[in-house]
Amino acid sequence: MAEPDLSVKSITKIVESYPRDKRHSLAILQDMQRSFGYIPREGFDILSRYLDTKIAKLFAMATFYRALSLKPKGKHVIRVCDGTACHIRGAPVLLDALERILGVKAGETTADGFFTVETVNCLGACAIAPVMVVDEQYHPQVKPDQVEAILKACRGGKNG
Ligand code: FES
Repeated sequence: MAEPDLSVKSITKIVESYPRDKRHSLAILQDMQRSFGYIPREGFDILSRYLDTKIAKLFAMATFYRALSLKPKGKHVIRVCDGTACHIRGAPVLLDALERILGVKAGETTADGFFTVETVNCLGACAIAPVMVVDEQYHPQVKPDQVEAILKACRGGKNG
């Protein structure tokens, strides 16, 4: 994945592609999330000036919606489902193994910027619980002792 262009020009281009109307705030933030992988600080500044709205309001919106992130994510985003079916079938043990191997907690990114670990509620694939998704690739019925091999495949470039 190429590094996102976080220049003022690039952020402004996204912001100004929307009408100057506060009701587009969320759509613009989502667009920045898609383009940059998170909402950069500059993004709040530029959007706040463009819509003549308080940064605090935009910030509150970004922290409310789980899909929006205030921090850059790792090259690979690992999501462990902790919905009911996955939880019952071992998601907590799976998450423990992942956190132990990577040395981070859910919601954090490894120091090398390679992996971000997140938990989610039901990915709609309960029949193959517990589910772990690396980027967009689903791994079904994952056992803790398979985690290392999945991570190794990522590091080896299979997912990158
Ligand atoms: S609970 Fe995990 S996919 Fe539904």
